[in-house]
Amino acid sequence: MCSVVGYNGPRVCKDIILEGLSRLEYRGYDSSGFACISPISKLVSVKSQGGIEQLSSKLELQPDLVLDSTLAIGHTRWATHGVSSDSNAHPHYDCQKTIAVVHNGIIENFAFLKEKLQLVGHHFISQTDTEVVAHLFEDELKNSTLEKAILSLVSKIQGAYALLIVSERYPDYLIAIRKSSPLCLGIGKNETFVASDVYAFTDKTNQVVFLPDESFALISKAGYHVYNFFGERIFPPVQKNNCTLAQVGKGNYAHYMLKEIYEQKRVIIDTVNFLRASKAAGMHELNLTYETINELQKINFVGCGTSWHAGLIAEYFMQEVAQIPTQSFLASEFRYKKLFTHPRTLTFIISQSGETADSLEALRLLSVSKQTTVALTNVASSSMVREADGFLLTQAGQEIAVASTKAFTGQVAALYWIAYWIAHIKGLITTQAITRAEEELLVAAEVLENSIERYKFDIISRIAPHYVQYKNFIFLGRHISFPFALEAALKLKEIAYVFVDCYPAGELKHGPLALIDQQTPVVLFSSLDETIYKKLCGNAQEVKARSGHLIIFAFEHQKDLIDLADTVFIFPKINSLLAPLIMTGLVQFFVYQIATILERPIDRPRNLAKSVTVE
Ligand code: M6R
Repeated sequence: MCSVVGYNGPRVCKDIILEGLSRLEYRGYDSSGFACISPISKLVSVKSQGGIEQLSSKLELQPDLVLDSTLAIGHTRWATHGVSSDSNAHPHYDCQKTIAVVHNGIIENFAFLKEKLQLVGHHFISQTDTEVVAHLFEDELKNSTLEKAILSLVSKIQGAYALLIVSERYPDYLIAIRKSSPLCLGIGKNETFVASDVYAFTDKTNQVVFLPDESFALISKAGYHVYNFFGERIFPPVQKNNCTLAQVGKGNYAHYMLKEIYEQKRVIIDTVNFLRASKAAGMHELNLTYETINELQKINFVGCGTSWHAGLIAEYFMQEVAQIPTQSFLASEFRYKKLFTHPRTLTFIISQSGETADSLEALRLLSVSKQTTVALTNVASSSMVREADGFLLTQAGQEIAVASTKAFTGQVAALYWIAYWIAHIKGLITTQAITRAEEELLVAAEVLENSIERYKFDIISRIAPHYVQYKNFIFLGRHISFPFALEAALKLKEIAYVFVDCYPAGELKHGPLALIDQQTPVVLFSSLDETIYKKLCGNAQEVKARSGHLIIFAFEHQKDLIDLADTVFIFPKINSLLAPLIMTGLVQFFVYQIATILERPIDRPRNLAKSVTVE
C-alpha cells in the first residue's frame, strides 16, 4: 500500500519524483522519502515522517547536488512493519549507505533473513521488513554481476514486492523489481519513469509497460531491459495509457469526501448512459457470450470493505431480477476456503482500485482454476482489468477520499443494471423492463441528492452536534438493508473513529439486545418489502421496550416505524431494491458531519490507505 516512484533520463528529477509521489499519496501517507544518484555518483537521500510537504521542506535544505540529479527514487509509506518514524521511512540502506531501496509490499521471511545478516555483521537501523533487501543486496553485489545479484536476491526473499533500487556501484541504473505488487514503466523520449501506478506519470507520457509478475527492469538513460526471474530477457508490450488526470481540485468543498458525496447523482446518470451505450456496442469488454450468460447457474461476488458490501447488496439484484443463485465473498476469506469450480459460474471481482491485494489474489486463484471472471473496477489501468477474463468500468471518476462513497454508488448502480441485462438475455424480461430499470436508477439519483438537501440544515445545526457525544452505536438492517447497514457502519468507523457494531436486525434478541441502553443509539434502516418492514417494526419495538434510542431511516407512510423514532429521516418510496442507493448520500453526509465536528482528518483517516495492496 505504499507507493514507489522513480525516474532515469535527461531531466533534473526532484520535482518529477515529488509530483509523482503526491499523486500516489492515496496509497499511504505516514512518511515519505527520496534518494538519488548525484552528478558525482554519490547516493544522497532524505526521508521524513509525515507527508510530501515535510519531505519537500527537508529537500529544500539539501545542497544543489540533489537538485541536479537525473536519477532518483521516492516513496510514500503506509506502515506495516514498524511505527511511522524517520528511521522506518523508506529508502532503506545497506551498511555503507551506498544502496537505497524503496518498497511496496511485504517481505514475509524478513525476520529469518535479518537474523542471518546480523550474524555476519550487518547493522540494522529500522524495524522494517524492507531493510533486509538493502543488506542482502549489498552481499549479493560483492562477487557478482548486477543481473546475477538481482536473481540471487529474488530467490531469497519471499512475499510481495515492488522494489526500486539505486546503488553507487551502478550509478547509471535504476533497478525495478516486481513480484505480486504492481509496477509500471512510463516510456518517454530518452527517459523512463517507473511507479506503482500510472497516475504518477500520466501527464508525462502515455506509453506504458506493465512489468509482468516476477520480472525486473534495468533502466538506464539509453532505455530499459526487462528480464524474468530466470534471467531471460522478455519483451512486455508497450501499451497506450488512456488515463487522464482527474479534475482533482476540491472546488468549494471542504473535503474531497464531501465533493464525492455530491458527485453521486452524476455517477448514477453516467452509469446509465455508459451502460446503454455499451449495450448498443455489444458489451464486448465483459468478454461473455450470450450463451455463457444464458447457461449461468451461479454468480459470485468477491471484494473487500465497501466493495464487498456492494456485492452483498447486488446478491439481491441477481437473485430477484436475474433469478440466479448468487453469493458474495470477502476476498480475504474466499482465498482460503475450499474452491468449488464450475464451468457455469461467473465471478465478479469488485474493486474500486482494481489493485486490492486480497481481491487480486482471489482473481488469480480463479484464473488458475479456469473460472470465468469479470473485474468491476473504477481504474482502467488496473491489474484486475488486465488479468480478469473481462471487465466493466464503473463511472465514478477518480475517487480521492479514502472512504469510498461515489465508487460504491457506481458499483451498486452498475450491478443493478447488469442484473436486468442478464435477465433480458435469459428471456425473463422485455427490453422495456431494462428501460424501466434505467429510469428507476435516474429517479434514485435525484432522490439521493434531494434527500441530502432536505435534511442538510437539520443535520448540520442540530442532529450531528447531538450525536457527536455518543461513543458507541448499533446499526441494524434486514434483507437488503443489512449489507447497507454494514456499509453505513463502516463509514462511521473509518472517518469518525466511532465504534459501531452492526447486526441483521433479527439477530438482536440472540445477544446484542443486552447492549441496548440510552448511551448506545440504534440506527435502523427500513425496507420497502412489506414483510421485512413488519419484522423491522418488531425489532424497533424491542429496542424501545429497553429504553433504547432509535435513529430510523424510513420510507414515507411507514407510520408505525416512524412513530418509534427519536430521530427519523424519511425517503420517498421507490423500487425496494434501490433503497440502499437512495439512502447512501444522506448517511454519508450525516457521518461526514459527525467526523467534521470531531475534527477528524476526513480525507485521510488515521491508519488507512486508499489502495490496500498488501494482504
Ligand atoms: O479498491 P477496493 O474497492 O478493492 O478497496 C476495498 C476496500 O479497501 C475499501 O472499500 C475500503 O473498505 C474503503 N476505505 C471503504 O470506504
